[in-house]
Amino acid sequence: MESPIQNDERVRLQAQNTELATLAGGLAHEIRNPLSTIGMNLELLGEELEDDESARGRRMKKRITNLQTECRNLEDILNAFLQFARAGELDLEVISLNEMVSEYISVLEPQANSLGIELRPHLDSNLPSARMDRALIRQVLVNLCRNAFEAMPQGGSIDFLTYARGNNVYLEVIDTGRGMDEKTRSRMFQAFFSTRSGGSGLGLPTVRRIVEAHQGLVSCESELGKGTRFTIQMPASADVAATSLK
Ligand SMILES: Nc1ncnc2c1ncn2[C@@H]1O[C@H](COP(=O)(O)OP(=O)(O)OP(=O)(O)O)[C@@H](O)[C@H]1O
Ligand SMILES: [Mg+2]
Repeated sequence: MESPIQNDERVRLQAQNTELATLAGGLAHEIRNPLSTIGMNLELLGEELEDDESARGRRMKKRITNLQTECRNLEDILNAFLQFARAGELDLEVISLNEMVSEYISVLEPQANSLGIELRPHLDSNLPSARMDRALIRQVLVNLCRNAFEAMPQGGSIDFLTYARGNNVYLEVIDTGRGMDEKTRSRMFQAFFSTRSGGSGLGLPTVRRIVEAHQGLVSCESELGKGTRFTIQMPASADVAATSLK
């Protein structure tokens, strides 16, 4: 059992963590506004130079385009970061994981079809409900599927499994993509680790933060050239009345 001193230390660390997360989130918001002003002004400059076909005009247009690309990269990083920072604050409801997965699959289907990716649900019809934050669990699905898509540039399939064991519900997302080597596997949950150019490396850390905020666990098995399986475990809540929650 935890001693009172250990408990005090844990509470202190938690408070420190919350303060840092609030600071970092605030900083990201502060950067966002001036960044969007920079982006807007670059667009106006680009429009003013539109008809200038002189060598100088073309050079300036090229520089403006480069700056716009960098602005978008910064915006993507900020958005991923804000999602990461928000991942600890839960707005819980009792919901069906099956429904969430089915809904998401139907949204994803057109894009998957056009990329030659088959989406295959295997959902346990007796799955108990779970207390979850709908928007955040959707973010988990988005981040996992985005990674799976990126790992299958030549097409493939994603299997979605749900099932219950003991007091937990499980979701597995299994792709037939390129898989990961040992180094990538050991670092994939580290913030800002990415093997993709333009990747923020916050997709999986956000998944883990969301799942752990739900008192759950996330694990991964992956084999190079074969594919990757992410397993998410979360406590079920069949006995929790929906009315007792927000
Ligand atoms: N399903 C997968 N198959 C193969 N590699 C994967 C898969 N999911 C994650 N990875 C590896 O883990 C790395 C980290 O993933 P993560 O989602 O955190 O960041 P990212 O996808 O690189 O960038 P982003 O922040 O845009 O999501 C990826 O760059 C990739 O190398
Ligand atoms: Mg990703």
